[in-house]
Amino acid sequence: MGISTMAAAEDIKTKDAEHVLGTYARAPFVLTHGSGMTVYDTEGRSYLDFSAGIAVNALGHADPEIAAAIRTQAETLIHACNLYHTVPQAELATELCELSFADKVFFCNSGAEANEAAIKLARKYGRSIHPGKTQVVAFTGGFHGRTIGALAITAREKYQAPFRPLMGDAHLAPFDDLDAAASLIGPETCAVFVEPVQGEGGIHIASPEFLKGLRRLCDRFNALLVFDEIQCGLGRTGKLWAYQHFDVEPDVMTLAKALGGGLPMGAALMTDRVAKVIEVGDHGSTFAGGPVVSQVARVVLRRVSDPDMLAHVTAMGDLLVKRLTEIRSLHIKAVRGLGLMIGIEMDREVKSLIEAGYQNGVILLNAGPKVLRLLPPLIVGKGEIEQLIEILTRTIRD
Ligand SMILES: Cc1ncc(COP(=O)(O)O)c(C=O)c1O
Repeated sequence: MGISTMAAAEDIKTKDAEHVLGTYARAPFVLTHGSGMTVYDTEGRSYLDFSAGIAVNALGHADPEIAAAIRTQAETLIHACNLYHTVPQAELATELCELSFADKVFFCNSGAEANEAAIKLARKYGRSIHPGKTQVVAFTGGFHGRTIGALAITAREKYQAPFRPLMGDAHLAPFDDLDAAASLIGPETCAVFVEPVQGEGGIHIASPEFLKGLRRLCDRFNALLVFDEIQCGLGRTGKLWAYQHFDVEPDVMTLAKALGGGLPMGAALMTDRVAKVIEVGDHGSTFAGGPVVSQVARVVLRRVSDPDMLAHVTAMGDLLVKRLTEIRSLHIKAVRGLGLMIGIEMDREVKSLIEAGYQNGVILLNAGPKVLRLLPPLIVGKGEIEQLIEILTRTIRD
């Protein structure tokens, strides 16, 4: 660690404080590079990354195949816009449909945009049945994004209050409570949005009965069932899609995060029944599904859908839960998760634990004030899990 790098870090933090809009509470270091499970800062300190950039870096940092795909495609065609056909986008859409329930894909650039697209699909679908069929239902603890539509179905007073009025005709019911959902869903409902495994809300897994019940209600009232798999999709839970754990298929599924391998990409996948209501000009985006990000997403999709990778995610997730359960006496109230999407509910606030983790070389996330959230790259190994347990034990004791 040299004085010059420390000065460089301070300089960057000062510039950030002065010129980047203050919407983020940032960690106290400046990251420079990464490799696999590890990221490094300007002072040469290394951190074991159990956040994966909030479930984005599924293949770890600086994956050689992703880097090669970016370089090769960037030297070929970086941008074309959606007025023109390109090979990577058409191939990616085909591969996504072959590997899921879907027939068609709309590409966009983030999770919030994917949910905005899904809201628009649902509104047009609903209005094609009758003009009053505009109601969108979602659940407490869910997180669907920060745009005005997605925010309206994100039940978080702190995020919503400063920006009202939000999108109208959005209604919220308690998560995993089928009776409450049944009292809201009716002939005016055009869509029901749900995360099969809630991420930001604290890692809560929906019960199969809840998701099956929502499927039945949507079928009964001709509403679209939308699964937000932005955090829980793409191998994160040990199956390619979280819905495969529950034996329920959606009409629309939204994706983002891991899809672009670290480049921005979102997608709304849908059946033909939904796609049929959409016409040329109904929706669009300049950058969406660009050649570089699409080519990278093809690499991600091939790698995370590999049965060996999915078996590895399940095995590592089981090991993590087992090891965490063994250290439960250390202020841990509950450990819950599916695959490598794990929540550790503590008996106290986790902010200081996350800060202590930085000091001890590990990057952790929270999901609400008292839940530590683990979303490591899917390539995490046994050695790194043991390292985490050792650091967590020490950090919690201290
Ligand atoms: C389940 C879920 N949906 C939507 C979003 C919003 O995604 P983005 O931040 O890319 O807009 C997130 C982000 O955390 C998410 O976890």
